[in-house]
Amino acid sequence: MLQSRKIDECLPFGACVDGLTLDMVENSELQKELKQLWIKESLLLFRDCPANPDFHVALGKCFGELLIHPGEHIRLKGNPELVQFTADPEQEGIYRVDGVDRVGWIPWHADLAWATESNRGGLLRAITIASEGGETGFMSRFDIYDRMPEPLKLAAEGREIVTRIRNAYETNPYCIGQHAELQYKPEHIAESELRLMASNPPTAHPLVAVQAETGRKFLNFSPAGADRVLGMSAAESHELLSAIALYANDDNKAYRHHWRLGEYILWDNWVINHKAYGCPLGEERVMQRATLPSDGKQVKGRPILEDA
Ligand SMILES: [Fe+2]
Repeated sequence: MLQSRKIDECLPFGACVDGLTLDMVENSELQKELKQLWIKESLLLFRDCPANPDFHVALGKCFGELLIHPGEHIRLKGNPELVQFTADPEQEGIYRVDGVDRVGWIPWHADLAWATESNRGGLLRAITIASEGGETGFMSRFDIYDRMPEPLKLAAEGREIVTRIRNAYETNPYCIGQHAELQYKPEHIAESELRLMASNPPTAHPLVAVQAETGRKFLNFSPAGADRVLGMSAAESHELLSAIALYANDDNKAYRHHWRLGEYILWDNWVINHKAYGCPLGEERVMQRATLPSDGKQVKGRPILEDA
């Protein structure tokens, strides 16, 4: 029988599981319990488990097939299901956030929210921890919806949100709460963003969506890529998304994780937005991630080709 506890009694999501072993995660009964717990809690923190790539992959496979990431250069040798991210200005650029230069800062978002189908989840492990910064924030999209007042819920109901790839977070009116200015972006990153934007048109998704497994409603809103609401004038759309942005960027309602070595966090990318707080220049931070691709339970988005 799986033992778990809430990460934070004040938050409506997130559970912590301690002391899993390789034998345990290869047990089919325990795998089922873990998956049920993940659907219920949206986010799982694993502590006191083996901290190595083989365990990382085995743990990830409890929740579905793992993606082999297309970016060969970031794949881990011997474990192609894992990718590695290093806090490095040459890979992630530099943002000045509230007056402090930071590497790896990314505002609230869901991964691949701009695609017709996004990833189902991500399982992160801390390999090297920064002495300052480097936290990851998680916010429940169920909770964003639940916190919205009824008139705002009604205004969002039945609408479609257009989400696009953005290469300049600082100009996005729906990423609020922190003041960010781009300080440095390596040329190869700028070029690859333009290529990605050229080959991926914006997509439209239901703004209020339902989790297939539970029927619970959530706000399908990724601030970093949010563009507009279909079928509204520019002014009406901006008014609605600005009101929603207040709820979707409220860090006080998020879980902000300060990493410890050997920990793993799994989040459900359909119902959780996340944020990378970045770390000051000169800090060393390395993370590895296993990715759960779409399992087909999400309502597919549709490309908005006139924007391409
Ligand atoms: Fe992300």
